[in-house]
Amino acid sequence: MEFDRVQTVASLSFDKETIPEEFIRPEKEQPPRTASHHGPVPEIPAIDLSDPDQENLVRLIAEASKEWGIFQVVNHGIPCDLITKLQDVGKKFFELPQEEKEFIARPRDSKSIEGEVNEEYAKYMREVADKLLTTLSLGLGLDGHALKEGAGGEEIEFMLKINYYPPCPRPDLALGVVAHTDLSALTILVPNEVPGLQIFKDENWIEAKYIPNALIIHIGDQIEILSNGKYKAVLHRTTVAKDKARMSWPVFLESPGEFVVGPLPQLVNKDNPPKYKTKKFKDYMFCKLNQLPQ
Ligand code: SIN
Ligand code: FE2
Repeated sequence: MEFDRVQTVASLSFDKETIPEEFIRPEKEQPPRTASHHGPVPEIPAIDLSDPDQENLVRLIAEASKEWGIFQVVNHGIPCDLITKLQDVGKKFFELPQEEKEFIARPRDSKSIEGEVNEEYAKYMREVADKLLTTLSLGLGLDGHALKEGAGGEEIEFMLKINYYPPCPRPDLALGVVAHTDLSALTILVPNEVPGLQIFKDENWIEAKYIPNALIIHIGDQIEILSNGKYKAVLHRTTVAKDKARMSWPVFLESPGEFVVGPLPQLVNKDNPPKYKTKKFKDYMFCKLNQLPQ
């Protein structure tokens, strides 16, 4: 599994100021670039999902998705204690000794740590996803079902992943995850309290503020494609901390592999030609994973 290698390195004893060369990012990617911001640092929008004024909610979410490609939501309807339980399941797993983790992780896939907590989480997650997709559709001036239908309707797959970034002796040289946009339609993420998610906006890396119990919503490639570029997939990366482990629990909403994705026909006309191809999701995935042009 992806985390094994990072985890193994974390448990080696380092001379305090060095890390293995393979973890050192090229100079232009190293985190200190964050400090280059002049003036007040803008913040990722935080939006109250329970706002009864639907027009206002649509406007805020559409603006955030056009300008930032990312926003946080509070009052999203997922009970706080369920979020805490989800986090506990992940924490306990990563705190196990390496051998036990491998024993648990190997025979099954990443869903092996899903239990009842995750079933219940998935139920609430579907409601949040529906609300977001409806709001995002209305923000494009479309029928509320447009984006959900365009991404696979009831067949949209929800995949929970757990990221674990161990403490790193040289957080100034390394990254948790290098800069990328998500392949998903949307990513709905819960972080722990250790900051580290950064997004690229106006030539600067901006760190997501930790808001307890908030969900961080990333616009992924598929919503950018469906909206014909009106909404932007957010370029993001994660940094690591010197003394603390960062964790995050993203849920990726993805179309089934055979499902055909492309700019919604309602948004395409002679003044707005399609900016993206229409092809199977698995072909988009293949190009992305192999770093081929889309
Ligand atoms: C990721 O982009 O894969 C991770 C984001 C995070 O950990 O916040
Ligand atoms: Fe990501």
